[in-house]
Amino acid sequence: MRYEIGPGEVHCWTFRPAEFAVNELAVVLSMDERKRANRFVFDRDRNEFVVCRGILRHLLALYAGMAPSDLQFEYSARGKPALAPNSDARIQFNVAHSRGAGVIGVTCAAPVGVDIERMDGFARVSALVPTCFAPEEQAEFASLPQRAQPRAFYAGWTRKEAFIKATGEGLSRPLHSFAVTIAPDACPRLLRCNSDPASAAAWTMADLGDHGFAAAVAVPAPASIRARNLYPQFLGLKQA
Ligand SMILES: CC(C)(COP(=O)(O)OP(=O)(O)OC[C@H]1O[C@@H](n2cnc3c(N)ncnc32)[C@H](O)[C@@H]1OP(=O)(O)O)[C@@H](O)C(=O)NCCC(=O)NCCS
Repeated sequence: MRYEIGPGEVHCWTFRPAEFAVNELAVVLSMDERKRANRFVFDRDRNEFVVCRGILRHLLALYAGMAPSDLQFEYSARGKPALAPNSDARIQFNVAHSRGAGVIGVTCAAPVGVDIERMDGFARVSALVPTCFAPEEQAEFASLPQRAQPRAFYAGWTRKEAFIKATGEGLSRPLHSFAVTIAPDACPRLLRCNSDPASAAAWTMADLGDHGFAAAVAVPAPASIRARNLYPQFLGLKQA
């Protein structure tokens, strides 16, 4: 079966790594990926990497019409993975995982970025607001009632991180150099990119999270976002 993706579509797949069997996924990893997995100190981190990379291979294999273990990745200077030219390089993707949940964005439209965060520990991370949020984001955050601030923090965080993952810059991009909407019920949107509002308007953003996780996707193009849950059965795998 080959899974089709329409022009301008971004398919966003959210999943729970614990529903997938580690051993069944480990066998499709490349030698490099196995070496990387073996460098993790904690089993929990190793298993999450193996499962997420295995799911990524199975999912992209459906779009590319190839076997999961035949796909080859290449990496940008800042570590963003992409499919190598011999593995259908039209397909762009991005992955995020966060202690119990994962998300994969797939598109042919433009470079894509995704992020997912477990919404716990707000008391611990709220001190990061001045560092992570641009001045207008901080003002929007401060204007919200206190009860709305934890969700706003994670909405802002995931929208911002989806953006820096779409560009591939990661944390090399100063987090004050662009601004997104912060309120959880505000339309997810890039408001400013450096000082150029016109380039910000070209971006599409959407929220994807639920059940204790915030998640977001960003692409530098008009796009139709299709979000779905991904279960082992869809990939022909067994339930853990
Ligand atoms: C890689 C990076 C972009 C995200 O790392 P992270 O938050 O630890 O992890 P995520 O789960 O979101 O993403 C990890 C995946 O992103 C992908 N990735 C790696 N480098 C990337 C890059 N430069 N751009 C886009 N994606 C990248 C990889 O597929 C990786 O998965 P892997 O572990 O299976 O290889 C990191 O360098 C970074 O900049 N983190 C920002 C954290 C932060 O402080 N955000 C503040 C937002 S307000």
